[in-house]
Amino acid sequence: MSESPKREQWASRIGLVLAMAGNAVGLGNFLRFPAQAAKNGGGAFLIPYIVAFIVLGLPLMWIEWTMGRFGGQYGHHSTPGIFDSMGRRKFWKYFGVFGLWANLIIAAYYLYIESWCMAYAGFSLINGFAETAPKEFFAKLTGDTPNEIWAISSWGMAIFAVCIAINVGILSRGLAKGIEIVSKIGMPLLIVFAAILAIRGLMISPATDSHAVESPMVGLNFVWEPKFDSLTNPAVWLAAAGQIFFTLSIGMGSMHCYSSYLRKDDDVTLNGASGAWTNELCEVVLGGTILLPIAVAYLGLVAVQEMVAGGSGFGLGFMVFPKLFNYWGSFAPVAGFLWFGLLFFAAITSSLAMGQPIMAFLQDEFKFSREKSALAFGAMLLPLALPVAMLHSQSFFDEFDYWAGTFSLVVMAVGEAVLFAWIYGVDRGWNEMMRGADLKVPRIFYWIMKYVTPTFLIVILVTSIFKPQAGWEKYVASVTSGAAAPKWEWADDGMIGKLLHKDLPLKEGATPKEIAFNHNLKLVRTVDRGAMLAAFAGFAILVSIAWRKREAEGRNITP
Ligand code: ALA
Repeated sequence: MSESPKREQWASRIGLVLAMAGNAVGLGNFLRFPAQAAKNGGGAFLIPYIVAFIVLGLPLMWIEWTMGRFGGQYGHHSTPGIFDSMGRRKFWKYFGVFGLWANLIIAAYYLYIESWCMAYAGFSLINGFAETAPKEFFAKLTGDTPNEIWAISSWGMAIFAVCIAINVGILSRGLAKGIEIVSKIGMPLLIVFAAILAIRGLMISPATDSHAVESPMVGLNFVWEPKFDSLTNPAVWLAAAGQIFFTLSIGMGSMHCYSSYLRKDDDVTLNGASGAWTNELCEVVLGGTILLPIAVAYLGLVAVQEMVAGGSGFGLGFMVFPKLFNYWGSFAPVAGFLWFGLLFFAAITSSLAMGQPIMAFLQDEFKFSREKSALAFGAMLLPLALPVAMLHSQSFFDEFDYWAGTFSLVVMAVGEAVLFAWIYGVDRGWNEMMRGADLKVPRIFYWIMKYVTPTFLIVILVTSIFKPQAGWEKYVASVTSGAAAPKWEWADDGMIGKLLHKDLPLKEGATPKEIAFNHNLKLVRTVDRGAMLAAFAGFAILVSIAWRKREAEGRNITP
């Protein structure tokens, strides 16, 4: 076995757990989760969500930590090498390309949102939203105009560039001096900021605040009160599983990368569970106590549900929330700063985790220095980030989010669950996981990892590829109760429906401008898919070159 000569390491256990939690805790916790909960029936969402956490989230978290630590022993810090060391077939190192590619593509739009958080935090602090409507600010920041394909805002792009530079700068300082320090500062601050907002939000009362229409408890009860009626609805299960993936950063390759810097006998079970639980605390307790209860208190539950119906929580967080803080008088600028500040910390600790696997790959395979690999990550981002910032958000942005931020996570999770349990072997995998374990994982997880997780994942993958417009539940009902099955039509948000641009329907009576816009959007999306394919092929070629180099240099690559 060949150990990498200058191996980076985490400086402390607390730093590792905070970095891992920072990797997971992101925009998904504070914006995506409340929106998903609202869209899928509040407490009705919670049960599938908890089940998905137990049978997908926790096992995959342990699997990724274990794989990462295993690959790290052989000098691999990114998924092509990590999977190769476990799978020992050509296929696996190419499958590992997902763990580089998804990070690059997600980072291209994630960093853009991160830059909005910076801009919004600064604008809140100078009390800008007292005068300017958040929608107006957003339009200026992004240049997004209805029915216009170009969206150019020079200062929005300048802030985006600064945000990329900050990330590259931190990454170039390395694991312990960069990512770990930012996580040690950012994570506690984020929790404090969120706690202040949650407490202030729960103090809203229609009796004392003339703008409030409900008690915030209505929003809180909506999220927390368990309802069992959704258990037979596949759409809610899919949404819950999708949220678990995104929020825990599963299937991205970033957890593998972080854990590859562990030592051979370092614990993965307790650390992995701590990271996952910290994420859940930030998501369900903090994330569930800010956006929805405050918005419901001022706007009413029905209005809030309507607002998130077609979106992802970003509208509520960026377009509506800053306006509501104005009801808090002199505390408004601080509240806005705390909200966007916490989103910024949540985002940066996740975006750093997207850069590190790509850097690690360049360092491991092409002997790049830390600085050079951080710059290379920035350079790779540019051709993808520029169109994200310069084109209407429904084009590059949404496509990246679907293919890399949603679909690819499930594909990679299916692959790694099969690799761990069936190729490497669940017995060896279990022993590997339990080496140095500070938490004795209940034996039932052995069976979950072997059967339940892969089966559940394959069902999710297949049902989201072939999703029908009428919803799977109608077809399930036709089998169970004999009702007539609806005519088959691809769903707008299923994989095939997306491929066919079904989510971009032309409204009846559309104006020539709307028709042209729709046409351009489809064109841009096709270019976007080409860019994603090119990025994937580029990484695959780099992997192929790297492994040829390894063979030529006689470096032992597998255990
Ligand atoms: N896990 C990260 C988030 O929740 C990507 O935003």
